[in-house]
Amino acid sequence: MPKMIICGRGGCGKSTLITLMAQKIDEQGKKVLIVDSDESNLGLSTMVGTGPAEKTLMDYLGGRPVVMGKLMAAMRTNWEEKLELFQESSLNELSSEFVSWNGNKGFMQIGKIEHSHEGCACPMGVIAKDFLNHVIVDKNEWVLVDTEAGVEHFGRGIVEGVDSVIMVIDPSNDAVLLSEKVSELSKEAGKPFGVVLNRVDDETRSILEDAISEKNIPIIGVIPYSKTMARENLKGNRLDNNMIEGDIGEIITSVESK
Ligand SMILES: Nc1ncnc2c1ncn2[C@@H]1O[C@H](COP(=O)(O)OP(=O)(O)OP(=O)(O)O)[C@@H](O)[C@H]1O
Ligand SMILES: [Mg+2]
Repeated sequence: MPKMIICGRGGCGKSTLITLMAQKIDEQGKKVLIVDSDESNLGLSTMVGTGPAEKTLMDYLGGRPVVMGKLMAAMRTNWEEKLELFQESSLNELSSEFVSWNGNKGFMQIGKIEHSHEGCACPMGVIAKDFLNHVIVDKNEWVLVDTEAGVEHFGRGIVEGVDSVIMVIDPSNDAVLLSEKVSELSKEAGKPFGVVLNRVDDETRSILEDAISEKNIPIIGVIPYSKTMARENLKGNRLDNNMIEGDIGEIITSVESK
């Protein structure tokens, strides 16, 4: 089943969509791995309800100096081929040191910025790309990748290891403008692309539907504004599909049919 990346501008609802999709997939009795590749935000494991694993993937691999050492060594040669951080692995084979499982739902973090002046987030990008290129999923399994805001993951090539791209669109002109850019970047990368409208009411939904349809971009789902979900997120509680109206299952079916 699909490995997919969820992207969009800051605060549009990427982590929320991942959380709701993961719950639905879990309820369908399928395994889902959530890959938190956002190197700043900390709340996803709480939203999902798994809690974090013992280690980030960066720490599991020995920490930033070790990964940087491997990166530098690989760059001196034919680096993409020489960089070997992972062997091919199925979801069952992933170490519980860096994946925290709760039923069918697994949660892992690539790495977080831990110290002032520690350097840029590029090593996290390399790890994420290498991991996604080597993780094997069967037809009843999903991998959902949460990203940092913006389009940096396209620049880093993380998208190479996934099958499709979903962008979350909140009611803002910036999101509409960015959708065109992400659509082009996805096409360039050869990945199917669709958008989910989030935090909408009837009026903003209609405006967004018109604006996105004009660009010939497929809308694969809609999540209305939910006061309950906003409140529960603020209180640091896990999110639940019962907090929203509508069916997140439509988004899953739409992705499955591609
Ligand atoms: N449909 C919705 N209804 C109400 N609140 C929502 C909805 N979707 C998201 N939110 C709220 O909007 C805020 C941002 O959501 P979220 O953290 O999912 O965005 P994000 O795109 O992951 O942000 P970031 O770019 O910082 O990673 C949160 O407080 C969340 O609870
Ligand atoms: Mg987020």
